[in-house]
Amino acid sequence: MLGPIGIGFVPHPQRPRPLLIGGGVGIPPMVFLAEALAAQASPSDPDSVPRNDIGTAWHPLVLMGSEIPFPFEARPSTILVPGVPDGVIAAMPLLEQLGVPSRLASRAGFPGCFDGFVTELGEAWLGSLDRDALGQIEIFACGPTPMLAATARLAARFDLPCQVSLEEFMACAVGGCAGCTVPVRTPTGPAMKRVCVDGPVFDAYTVFDT
Ligand code: FES
Repeated sequence: MLGPIGIGFVPHPQRPRPLLIGGGVGIPPMVFLAEALAAQASPSDPDSVPRNDIGTAWHPLVLMGSEIPFPFEARPSTILVPGVPDGVIAAMPLLEQLGVPSRLASRAGFPGCFDGFVTELGEAWLGSLDRDALGQIEIFACGPTPMLAATARLAARFDLPCQVSLEEFMACAVGGCAGCTVPVRTPTGPAMKRVCVDGPVFDAYTVFDT
């Protein structure tokens, strides 16, 4: 086992309300990110945890989508999230314990879940926010490529920064084989970037057309 490698999510303190969108196997990375943000927001030892440079606590919202049963037993949330459609109450118990609000989406008819794609749930919530609130939002996403592309379009629609974690087949995972490259837009023109070491997290606008 080798790690950590590559470049992860970099939340910007000027955007203290991160919207985390995870789909399928992209759910666990969003939980890790939410845990890291929650630890910074309420450290048990304030001296041991770096605060963001404007001293603001993070207030993440995690939205998760799956068409097969979620890998945890969802329960009704006890954390109110204004702007989430009525009846969308299913949440992840682990995040509830951390005080991080979460909501679930699925087209499989699971109780308490948003009936639709997770990006549509994100759109409904973002559409409820005013300009000031939107100015505090940054989107982070991990999941299937069509979901990431939809997330990039969603971010563009609301003029929000957006980071996506890509998935690729990897032969070496240390930058040597170029088997995991993806086309990316750079300031100097198109380039091929290695997901294993140049990513897996990229600015969504450099990867997807919006
Ligand atoms: S897996 Fe070999 S360069 Fe990325």
